[in-house]
Amino acid sequence: MQLTVNTQAHALDDQRVPPDMPLLWVLRDELGLTGTKYGCGVAACGACTVQVDGQAVRSCVTPVGAVQGKAVKTIEGLAGTGLHPLQQAWVTHQVPQCGYCQSGMLMAAEALLRQKPQPTDADIDAAITNLCRCGTYPRVRAAIHAAAAALAPAIKPGAKALVKTALADQDRSAA
Ligand code: FES
Ligand code: FES
Repeated sequence: MQLTVNTQAHALDDQRVPPDMPLLWVLRDELGLTGTKYGCGVAACGACTVQVDGQAVRSCVTPVGAVQGKAVKTIEGLAGTGLHPLQQAWVTHQVPQCGYCQSGMLMAAEALLRQKPQPTDADIDAAITNLCRCGTYPRVRAAIHAAAAALAPAIKPGAKALVKTALADQDRSAA
């Protein structure tokens, strides 16, 4: 079986990798891409989120056979020559706490920004259903607004207002 991950083609051993093996197992155990995490295994937590043809999917319940011929992107493929604006915003806003959920959060956030370059808080809450036991949700929102502003300088004034609101919400929830 052929699998394309982060623009790299991989030939998988059919003896080791049946088509119904979860994509998460293949990424971690066959390709060594351990940035994608295992949380619940039943599509509930989002820790295993990767992208398939630009859509956020839960790799723990996605059979590898279903993504043949498609483009899989994992957290290892998010940065380009430097950090992705989302990763930079994650650093600036100190989003990660224990960090376990964060690669899935980032992959879901990047898929959202491609569909909705200037999402509202409601858009973020609807699109990113990933769970975070450390409660980083206000920081996730603030960082997504910051990345959206960085990616769309032409509409920065409006986006800045969204960042300001998100940061105020973050401060309130931290108080
Ligand atoms: S490990 Fe896949 S959704 Fe929890
Ligand atoms: S940062 Fe700890 S689970 Fe989200």
